[in-house]
Amino acid sequence: MTGAPPFLPLAVRSSMIPADIIQEIKDRAEIEDVVGDFVGLKRRGSNLLGLCPFHTEKTPSFTVNPARNFFKCFGCQRSGDPISFVMEHEHYSYPEALAYLAKKYGIKIPEDSPDQAANEAGQHKESLYIVLQFAEQFYRDQLNKSEEGIQIAKSYLKEREIWAQGEEDFKLGYAPGGWDTFVKEATGKGYKENFLIDAGLAIKKESGGLIDRFRERVMFPIHSLSGRCLGFGGRTMKNDKKEAKYLNSPETELYHKSEILYGIYQARRAIKTQDMCYMTEGYMDVIMLHQKGLAHVVAASGTSLTEGHLRLVRRYTDNICFVFDGDKAGIKAALRAIDLALEEGFNVKALALPQGEDPDSFARRREPPEIQAYFEEQSTDFIQFKAQLLMPQAGDDPLKKWEVLQQIVQSISLVNNGLKRILFIQKTAKMLGIGEEVLMGELNKQMPRVLEHKGKKWLDDEKEVAKGRPPGSDPVEGHPKSTAEFRQGLVAQHETYLVRFILKFGHLMYDDEKMETVAEHVLAFLEEYDAYPDNEQLGMVLKEYQVHVESWGVVDIDGFLRHPDETLRKTAQGFLTDRFEASVHWTKRIGMEIKEDNGYKRNMERVIHRYKLALVQRMIHHILQTIQALPEGEGPEAEALEVETKLYIKLLENRRQIAANLGIVVM
Ligand code: UTP
Ligand code: MN
Repeated sequence: MTGAPPFLPLAVRSSMIPADIIQEIKDRAEIEDVVGDFVGLKRRGSNLLGLCPFHTEKTPSFTVNPARNFFKCFGCQRSGDPISFVMEHEHYSYPEALAYLAKKYGIKIPEDSPDQAANEAGQHKESLYIVLQFAEQFYRDQLNKSEEGIQIAKSYLKEREIWAQGEEDFKLGYAPGGWDTFVKEATGKGYKENFLIDAGLAIKKESGGLIDRFRERVMFPIHSLSGRCLGFGGRTMKNDKKEAKYLNSPETELYHKSEILYGIYQARRAIKTQDMCYMTEGYMDVIMLHQKGLAHVVAASGTSLTEGHLRLVRRYTDNICFVFDGDKAGIKAALRAIDLALEEGFNVKALALPQGEDPDSFARRREPPEIQAYFEEQSTDFIQFKAQLLMPQAGDDPLKKWEVLQQIVQSISLVNNGLKRILFIQKTAKMLGIGEEVLMGELNKQMPRVLEHKGKKWLDDEKEVAKGRPPGSDPVEGHPKSTAEFRQGLVAQHETYLVRFILKFGHLMYDDEKMETVAEHVLAFLEEYDAYPDNEQLGMVLKEYQVHVESWGVVDIDGFLRHPDETLRKTAQGFLTDRFEASVHWTKRIGMEIKEDNGYKRNMERVIHRYKLALVQRMIHHILQTIQALPEGEGPEAEALEVETKLYIKLLENRRQIAANLGIVVM
């Protein structure tokens, strides 16, 4: 086996850092010091505070905790240790980050580390990244420096009015002609053949040799959230109908087309600041709009929209607008995309472009203000869009009209909020001149089916209560034990249920009128009770959740599941792994009960009350001990006794009330 060639980027060699050196780097790297190289920090108590380097903000919410060697932004939720900070900030791979820190702290990485490290997990992926990075640069150089690239591709881009800045922002390139120009270059530089194949850049011929996958094409790198190249789309410049217009990377270890959106790296900040994401169809659409000042644009580039795509958008906004070409192609996919987004809880809009235009051609011939105005003013909500699209097709046929109505109501039934559903029904009724009751009737007919589908994702009420019960019988229902430990255990148990509950159901509406979510309700309760989980892990999850609710009004549960902080991530994962299980009780009730609201609301009350009860029981226990320990006497002792007794009586009353709410009797 040959060692890594000497000219390969730092990463390959540094990934062979021995474990003890990695440990030394971890031990020596101080978060305050590492972050301080990039961010201005001010001391705030035991922490340090600064402006977050990962998102745009005016007031600092980026904190550094030297004691825990940890950073955390309460605005964008990013958190981690010195290594992850460097990775994220500098877009380094893990080994690159290690190498950076080693250099900073003067830790010497042995030149000739054993080769076995090359087999470490992650090494293969890392190598693919490096090969793709090499390819990206190769294609760029071809575009900018080779005769062929300049003559053919550069002029093609010019013709399409891609400017230098757009070309730079999206790292466009050119894959030259010849069968194996890239392969030769890459292998000549020491990149192994199997990496070229696994990265989707080369294809093995039957005769055994390698050829380039992309030849004579303008190259569009597809970037990860941190800007690393995952794969490519390549456009032919020929008008040959036999040849695919775009050729895309195949699925690889790094490139999963159902989970990445074209342009998300370049668009993510704008999506967040604009609180809106425009979803287009193609590479050119994204680039052209970006050039014209609409930066919050992405594309599913050639694949139909998936939940994975929406999850990506969800990290930055709840608002999505689908932009459609002004022709009929793709309309069916469009309607499906709308429903999917509704189902995922997005506020969905749609924008149709004038006949014969796609976003690219539309934007190319217009100036930014006009484009912006059109996008803002012409986008309609999904109902209007569906109606405008489908009604004309139905003509005067009442049956067909009814079918269109059913389709609209079906989309409405996917909206995850009772109040909003009603508002949409009202809107539809008004718009189409149809009685609200008729539409409500149809909605009610459709809801059970939707709920059956959603039941799997949504709540799981009875089971939740069953889980909310401590093992054995509940002490307030006559458990003989009453030790401090037992009380403590109960609180711990119930706080777990509470946090689990909030993670699972927090996004659902609690009070439609007040537009209060379950999460807001529970958090308000905690504040009122000045209660906070004893368990540090749970506290972290809850805090994170709270910050999220306060900043965005919603919580990105998937963000939790992929949270950079391992503790948080693990805790959340532990809680949510069963969230897709169907509840026997729930499914049984489908068809009988149309309103989905009652289940989780009642359960939330129970979870809260049980937690309250556990808290109060523990307080009562403490106070009894305090009273018993008070020395007898007059003056201050007597006063203390009186205060404690009053509190004790108040707590007993409190307990009685909570128990009554739970419908149980406290012994
Ligand atoms: P379009 O056919 O609408 O192409 O496909 P476009 O984006 O307008 O491209 P230009 O303007 O002709 O250059 C939309 C998207 O579908 C994918 C690509 O991601 C494209 O951007 N697609 C299309 C393919 O993957 N392969 C194809 O052969 C065609
Ligand atoms: Mn186009």
